[in-house]
Amino acid sequence: AATTRYEAETSPAICTGAVETEYAGYSGSGFCNGTNATGAYAQFTVTAPASGTATLSVRFANGTTTARPADIIVNGSTASSASFESTSTWTGWTTKTLTVPVNAGSNTIRLNPTSANGLPNVDYLEA
Ligand code: GCU
Repeated sequence: AATTRYEAETSPAICTGAVETEYAGYSGSGFCNGTNATGAYAQFTVTAPASGTATLSVRFANGTTTARPADIIVNGSTASSASFESTSTWTGWTTKTLTVPVNAGSNTIRLNPTSANGLPNVDYLEA
């Protein structure tokens, strides 16, 4: 099936932090720089054609040397986890693939950081 791109800076997505444009290479009109704190999430609303397992691609950059772990919370339940590794620079945008269970129709997908460093910079999610 075709993929849809959901920009982190575009409603109904939620960026718990600031939408910024400081680092080139992002898609759309900016990226989400989440607050550096546990639980400072980025959330997407993803439409799925059918229930089942969806493959998600998250584009991010982590210009620090420390990976940033997060829970992947789907419709309010923790479904998976991810570790957003160093991409060496803040312009080093990289895509990470995740698989999560989804319902047919609308789903909220929250990237919820579990360390005090918060999320990497998040550009978009594709599903
Ligand atoms: C720097 C960088 C931000 C980034 C932040 C972080 O401040 O400019 O874009 O989000 O580090 O560590 O998360």
